[in-house]
Amino acid sequence: MEFVSHGDKETQKLAQILGREIVKSSAQKKKAVVIGLEGELGAGKTTFVKGFAKGLGIKQKVSSPTFVLMKVYNFKTKGEKEPKFLFHFDCYRLKDHRDLTALGAQEFFADARNIVLVEWSDRVEKVLPSRYIKIHIDHLDNKTRKITVRK
Ligand SMILES: Nc1ncnc2c1ncn2[C@@H]1O[C@H](COP(=O)(O)OP(=O)(O)OP(=O)(O)O)[C@@H](O)[C@H]1O
Ligand SMILES: [Mg+2]
Repeated sequence: MEFVSHGDKETQKLAQILGREIVKSSAQKKKAVVIGLEGELGAGKTTFVKGFAKGLGIKQKVSSPTFVLMKVYNFKTKGEKEPKFLFHFDCYRLKDHRDLTALGAQEFFADARNIVLVEWSDRVEKVLPSRYIKIHIDHLDNKTRKITVRK
């Protein structure tokens, strides 16, 4: 699927809708849903995660985990009492995929309660599950981005 966004609000709106759909379709999954975000510096990866979190009903302010490497938020889905978790990784400062493993990523990938969003996923592809949703953001101009979603 391919989308063109004309501003950060539009990217967030798209991410919000995708977030809701992905949560709905993940109900029967036995492992986490993993979403890789690719695109150069300032492409809009964090902006996308902000909208995605909103779609899940997360009210907390989502900010970039560039320095802390990982953030976790909880959310609830309709009809379920137990909370679920949104993990937000930023791999920009990692040396390589082994650093992601060291952060406990495999454990998070194995848990069906989790949705794991990974910025700079192309740097750690080796340790991502064989099936993940890949989102690539291309910078077309100042305000315009091409967003490609691949399963
Ligand atoms: N259509 C658009 N979609 C997303 N962001 C946009 C768009 N147009 C302009 N922007 C701006 O581009 C910037 C994107 O920043 P953001 O932090 O989301 O990028 P990033 O890919 O996470 O960067 P980094 O690699 O540093 O983590 C923001 O300042 C945002 O306002
Ligand atoms: Mg970012």
